[in-house]
Amino acid sequence: MRSTSKTILLHEISKLKSKQDQWNPFAWYKQMRENNPVFYDAEQDVWNVFLYDHAKRVLFDHQLFSNKKERSLIPVPRVNNRSNVNFSDPPEHRHRRALLAQAFTPRSLKEWEPRIQAIADELVADMEGQTTVDIVQQLAIPLPVIVIAKLLGVPSQDREKIKAWSDILFYPYERETFGDIADQKARAMKEFQEYLYPIVQEKRKHPADDILSDLTKANLEGEQLTDMEVVMSGIGLLGAGNETTTMLISNMFYSMLFDQPGIYQEMRADSTAMPKLVEEVLRFRFPVAIDRQVAQDTTVFGHKMKKGQIIIAWMGSANRDESQFANAETFDIHRHNNQTHLTFGAGPHFCLGAPLARMEANIALSTFVKRFADIRPVEGFEVTEHLIQSATGQSLKSLPIRVETA
Ligand code: HEM
Repeated sequence: MRSTSKTILLHEISKLKSKQDQWNPFAWYKQMRENNPVFYDAEQDVWNVFLYDHAKRVLFDHQLFSNKKERSLIPVPRVNNRSNVNFSDPPEHRHRRALLAQAFTPRSLKEWEPRIQAIADELVADMEGQTTVDIVQQLAIPLPVIVIAKLLGVPSQDREKIKAWSDILFYPYERETFGDIADQKARAMKEFQEYLYPIVQEKRKHPADDILSDLTKANLEGEQLTDMEVVMSGIGLLGAGNETTTMLISNMFYSMLFDQPGIYQEMRADSTAMPKLVEEVLRFRFPVAIDRQVAQDTTVFGHKMKKGQIIIAWMGSANRDESQFANAETFDIHRHNNQTHLTFGAGPHFCLGAPLARMEANIALSTFVKRFADIRPVEGFEVTEHLIQSATGQSLKSLPIRVETA
């Protein structure tokens, strides 16, 4: 077996075995908040924090909790790359982030809105005449991948290849099959690079109005990025913007069916309720965890931590901390502070794509709601039959729902 020493295996910390528990890790989170809020996992030499205030401190305090990590739970193979926003801290991180940030300004997103709407219109129109639709396969997967491909300036017909490569890159490692998974990831990374490289070369010669072209012109500390650095930034964005947004759109429908049945009619009656639903789904149904490396020997959160140890902020747990969210285990789109969830991170690395993800989810929902009068679960629906292992635990690979045309 190949060494797992640089990789942290998240599910070995929770020890949640069944698909059902991995899909709903919230009871375990609660137990940890109550009994073991700062937990040291000796097997992997990793600290874990479960409370809101602790998680927030880990994300904000980059001097004590650095993103320059020798080990990580991010399952994507690491490639040395000056433009990588991960694995860097301020001040150098600020330059790297600025390169990408131009693409995600409110102005550039405003320009994107009609194009995202057109993609959503087409996907929802394709559901015409069906009484059962698979939300994951027909909307939640294609929308983000088409959008991010178009934003980058990559042919969106290639979306299945792009999706397949990013899925492999983000697929979680397991101890028993570590070598096989590592080989698959290396192959996917090589193919993805070989695919994007000529596209980037072409953009450098003939820049267009897209992110890859902008990156070929970008200036990092007085130097241009190499073609391979642009390729790697592209892979980073294609990966970051895909599975996460798919999860958001899928979970949004799951919540409307199972966390608060009937709420669909509120969406139809009041369009201002939609962004509130999106925020509550982000708070309520997102088992995200982020890692940092302890930068110096210290005593923090009442424990002695050593330089070089890894600390994981379990944001999915922080989002259900009663000290931040009253009745945290209840799905309630009208809570006043649900935007303070940590699902997009916090501090210097706060998700650059958050406004894009929010816009995609809102457009997906409003477009769907206009066409369908009601939704219901299909008979005999068992969530465990529709799950797939993902970087964060289990996510929906399909979600068939009954629809009534408006
Ligand atoms: C629901 C959807 C999404 C979720 C839950 C999510 C979550 C996150 C989180 C938690 C971080 C912080 C990582 C850290 O602190 O180490 C992050 C960073 C990032 N996200 Fe997202 N993300 C989503 C969508 C997107 C999209 C659509 C894009 C772009 C296409 C994107 C691009 C990025 C980038 C570039 C960073 C790195 C920022 C930095 O390190 O400065 N994300 N995301």
